[in-house]
Order: sequence, then C-alpha cells, then structure tokens
Amino acid sequence: MNSQKTIHGKLSCLSLYAASVLLAACASGVKTPDSYLDAGLPVHARVERLLKEMTLDEKIGQMCSYVGEAAHVSTPNADEELRYVLSIGDRADLVKQGKIGVFIKVADYEKANDLQRLAEQSRLKIPLLVANDAMHGHGMYEGAVTIYPTEIGIASTFDPAIARRIAEYTALEMRATGNHWTFSPNIEVVRDARWGRAGETFGEDPYLVSVMGRSMIEGYQGDDFSRPGNVLACAKHFVGGGIAYNGLNGAPADVSERTLHEIFFPPFIEAIRAGVYTLMPAHNEINGIPCHAHRRYLTRLIRGTWNFRGFFVSDWMDIQRLFSVHKIAATEKEADKIAVLAGLDIHMHGPGFLDNVRELVEEGSIPMARIDEAARKILHAKFQLGLFENRYVDSSRVQNTLLKKEHVDLALEAARKSIVLLKNENHVLPLDKEIPSIFITGPNADSQALLGDWATVQPAENVTTVLEGIRRSVSPRTKIDYLGFGHQAPPGDALLRRARERAALSDIAIVVAGENSLRFDPDKTSGENLDRPSLEPAGGQMDLLKAVKSSGRPVIVVLVNGGPIASPWMAENIEGIIEAWEPGMAGGQAIADVIFGDCNPGGRLPLTIPRTAGHIQSFYNHKPSAFHRGRFYRSGREPLYEFGFGLSYTEFRYSQLRLPGKIGIKDNLEFGLTIENTGGLAGDEV
Ligand code: BGC
Repeated sequence: MNSQKTIHGKLSCLSLYAASVLLAACASGVKTPDSYLDAGLPVHARVERLLKEMTLDEKIGQMCSYVGEAAHVSTPNADEELRYVLSIGDRADLVKQGKIGVFIKVADYEKANDLQRLAEQSRLKIPLLVANDAMHGHGMYEGAVTIYPTEIGIASTFDPAIARRIAEYTALEMRATGNHWTFSPNIEVVRDARWGRAGETFGEDPYLVSVMGRSMIEGYQGDDFSRPGNVLACAKHFVGGGIAYNGLNGAPADVSERTLHEIFFPPFIEAIRAGVYTLMPAHNEINGIPCHAHRRYLTRLIRGTWNFRGFFVSDWMDIQRLFSVHKIAATEKEADKIAVLAGLDIHMHGPGFLDNVRELVEEGSIPMARIDEAARKILHAKFQLGLFENRYVDSSRVQNTLLKKEHVDLALEAARKSIVLLKNENHVLPLDKEIPSIFITGPNADSQALLGDWATVQPAENVTTVLEGIRRSVSPRTKIDYLGFGHQAPPGDALLRRARERAALSDIAIVVAGENSLRFDPDKTSGENLDRPSLEPAGGQMDLLKAVKSSGRPVIVVLVNGGPIASPWMAENIEGIIEAWEPGMAGGQAIADVIFGDCNPGGRLPLTIPRTAGHIQSFYNHKPSAFHRGRFYRSGREPLYEFGFGLSYTEFRYSQLRLPGKIGIKDNLEFGLTIENTGGLAGDEV
C-alpha cells in the first residue's frame, strides 16, 4: 500500500514538473490571456491555474515562513531558536527557488522590496506575503510609526468604532511599508491576572472580546482584503492561554469542554463570522492535546463546524515544540506530520519543514490534497491582496502614510478614552493647572513603557511621556520636581528618603507606577514570556509609594500596565488612582489631560482586578456556587475593582428603563434607558 503511494507521488511530481517547464515560458514572458498572471481573471481561476503549474516543492514552499531579521529573536531560548534563522545568502537562494512563501518580521520597506525582487526571479514569480505583529499600531517596524494603546486599553473604551479605526490605520501603515498580514487581534479571554500577556487582550468577557475582535478584523481586512489598504488579520491564539497553569505563558490549560464553549470559543466563532482569514493555535496544550496537534479542533470544529475558510499559521516554533517540548513526536519530521495533518497550513518558521513534508507526501503519510488545500488558501490571499500586480512599495508612500496626522490624532483620542479613574477621594482630581508645585516620580514617569508590548522604542520626539505631558499642561509658574526611579532595582534607603523629603516640599505627589512590557527592554517586568508572581507593582515600587505617602502630602498614582495591578494598601491609602493601561505614544498627554481635567475619564475596566494573587481566578460571570462556602482568611471575597468599574468627574443619572413586555427564552433582550449628565462637566458614560 505504502509503496504504491510512493510511486504515485513521484509520478505526479514528474508530471507537474513537465507542466511547469511549459509555464516558465508564460511566467517569464508575455501574459497569455488564460495565465494566472492575467489580472482580468477571477481570483479562484488564477489560483487553480497557478496550482496546476506548481511542483510539490513550490507548493510546500508557500507553507514555509522565515524570519527577516535574526536580531529580532529575543525569546528565552534565543540561542536554540537562532539555529532556525537562515543567513541572508541561504534565504536568497530559497526565495529564488520558490521555496519560501512568507516572511515575518522584515525590518523595513527596503528589505521587503529586496525580498520581493528575489521572489520575482523565481520560476513562477509568486510574491511573498510579509507578516508582522502589528497589534496596536505597526510597532515592530524599524522606523517611526503610530503606536496606539494596547488592546486592554482599547477594550476599556468599550467603543468598537475606535478599535476598527485603529486597525484600519494600522493596516495603512503596514501596507505602506510592504507588510500584508498582521498577527492580530489576540482574542484570548483572560482568566488569570498573572499572565504577562493580559495587556494584549481585550480582557475577561467573551462578549466584549468578541465585539472588539470583530471590529479589529473588519478594520484590518475591510470587506474582503482586496483594497490596497487592507491586510490579513489573524485571530489568535486558539485556545486557553489565558487560563494556563500558574498564569505561565505556554503552560498547559485544563478547562472543561463546557467552559471552552461558554467562555473561550465565542470570540473565535465571532472572528470567523467576521471573515478573519487566518488563525493561530496557542503555544499551550488544551486538556492534554497540544493546540498545534489538535486535529479535532482545527480541522473538524474550526474548519468543519465553524466553516473557517482561511488558513492556519503555527505560532513561533510551535511545530518543532511538538517534538522538543510536548514530546508527542519522536522527531521533528513526525512533528511536522502531526501538525500538517491536524490542519496547519503555514509553518512559523525555519528550515527543515519543506524537506520533511516533501518526504512525508512521497511516503504517503500526508495526502497531496492536504498540501493543495494549504497552497490554495495561501495563493488565494496573495491574489486577493493584489500582490501579483503590486508587490513593491515606494518610499514616497512610506513617508506620507506613517504617522499621518489623523493616525496620531486617533492615538490621542483612543488613549483619552481608555483611561479609567479608579479612586478620587475628596475630589483630589482634577488638579488646578496653577498648582504651585508638583513632585513626580516612579519608573513610568518618563519612560516609553507607555507603548506596551509589541512595540519597539520610538524616537523621543514622537512619544509624550507622563512627565512631558504634565510639563506641557501646567502653568509656566508651576514648579515640577522629578525624581527618577528604576523598574526593577531595589530603591535603597537613600533614594526612598529623598522621595519622602522632596514630596513633602510639594503641593502634590504623583507616582507613575506599574509594569514595563516594552518588547526588547532589558528592564521589562511583564509581557510575553514574563508572567507576574504578584499583582503588586514590581521591584521597589510599593516601598516608593509608602515613602511618598509618609510625606503627608496628597498622592496620586498613575498606573501604566498591561495586566491588572492590585494592592489593597494602595486602594486604601492613596487619594487618587488612575489606571492608564499602556496608552501608546500619546499616552503622557492623555494622562495629563485627565489629571488636569481637560479630559473627563470615561474608560471602564474590561477585567476584574482581584484583591490579591490569592483571589485568582476572579471574574464577574462566575458560577453561583463560587462563594457559597469558602471564605478567604482575613480577606474579603470581593475583588478590588469589579469588571466595568470606572469613576468620572461628573455624575450620570439613569432613568426611564424601557423593557419589552415579554421575551422568549432564546430572544436577545433589547432595552433602552435615558442617561443624563447631571454634573458640571462634559463626560462619557459607557
Ligand atoms: C507569539 C505570537 C506572535 C509570534 C510571532 C509568538 O511567540 O506567541 O503571538 O504572533 O510569536 O512574533
């Protein structure tokens, strides 16, 4: 049986090769009317024509992705992973042979153009798909771009239109720089506040996550990603990373099938309804099966039942890890087989995959139909994106698109809408701009940690830090005293004493605390692969807060963070607390606008803030039995702040609730009410 299949495989390769020799004439010369190069043909016809011309290697080549720049590998196992990054010479050869379909993390538009030029030298001239993690702006691009708040802040706006516009503008900046595919949105539901990636999600509520995810997908892809400003979106990571053991990225998740259906699946179902074209499985295993090997979910459930029409991309090195970490494969080749049979279409990333998969097809272990299916979907995207006609970008478009005024304005608008006011004792906020003196300190006061994960450091003039925002906002007569403070280093008694003494000399103290998830920052305290053992701010920040408080001056804490920060001490003792999340490049201005009342904060928490790490998991839609017996020793069971919580500088009155007289069990409930701003300031109410 096996040998028959082998012979069949070899024969079909030969016949494909013969056909491809014929085609080489068309590809390199005139476009004959029925060639796949004829832009007048419908996309599906072009795909089928091209597929007929391709060799097995060329088809598998479409499934192969490589990293553009070795320097970007900064994961905990970087040395190990560098083995999979090719030298420039090797990459060039493979592209010219049509053995690479996708590049990820290409540094800039010139490098993207260089790679496309190589692809144009290949036999069939198939353009490359260029992908990056543009999660909240095109932040991994090596050049100045617009950086918006991270997803947790976008979710706090509860405004899907903002999410859609952010995605739309991000897509424009991506296309202007030769990128066509973003690994966004992250639509995982967070159920463990320690997870370092909480900031890249829309929080704990499946409905809010679904709505925000859909909006971003629509913003990236437009109707069908055929417009020159569209990119492919990627719904990730399927599934359960937000509830892995100990909140650790990539650790196993054990979740009941019922909870998967009620909580973790709905955002993915909604993403597919919204037309998302690509989907990425999670690093972790789910109920004992690594997501990258999960044929029942990827192929039967997602493709079959949910009718997903696009393609799956593996996460970073996760096919290899079926062998090296999950240990369900005896070799990398077996890992490739398991993943491709489970339904994976693109391998992220590195060499080995193409040879292994070719052998597996020739041995009869992977059916040719599976390879055709993958190649067909990838080629469909390339045609639909218009890459066969338009693969290069020109520098004038780059300059006119990056940091366009409306993008930068949106970064400020989104940041202002995302800020949540957690505490405002005795109306300490907003401050008067004529305040004589302010003491300001904390690791995030003058730091680009505002940008969050999936962003690299931006030119200083493009980012407004909190210190700069405050300086710009106050009267020229206000004296500002700034004391620097690190994220991680223990502060030492002398520094704490100085903080207390200098706070005591000012009218108010502002401590900008929190986390730092800036991608390549050596001083980072959270983010991907950096999870949090405590919910209090890292390093010596609690000591700093206590020292400043002991000055006797009123204190305002501004939190800059992706995952929830919880300190019962802070909640009790600090007069004003502003949750700014990771508000992006205009964040410092937005925070200053809130501090001085130019903006009335209207953001609401998209997740529950547990009282302490011991209260994990905390979320609003818990089962009725969650608290029917157990109590915490000397601690209330209530969270520190509820999902949806957020104060305002004004007051709102709710009245005239209008409900239907009767609703059926399966009906949606539609209702109306009147909300009136009864305070003295304009404001937003979610
Ligand atoms: C992350 C993905 C990301 C990929 C490529 C992985 O480590 O889990 O979210 O898209 O890297 O950068």
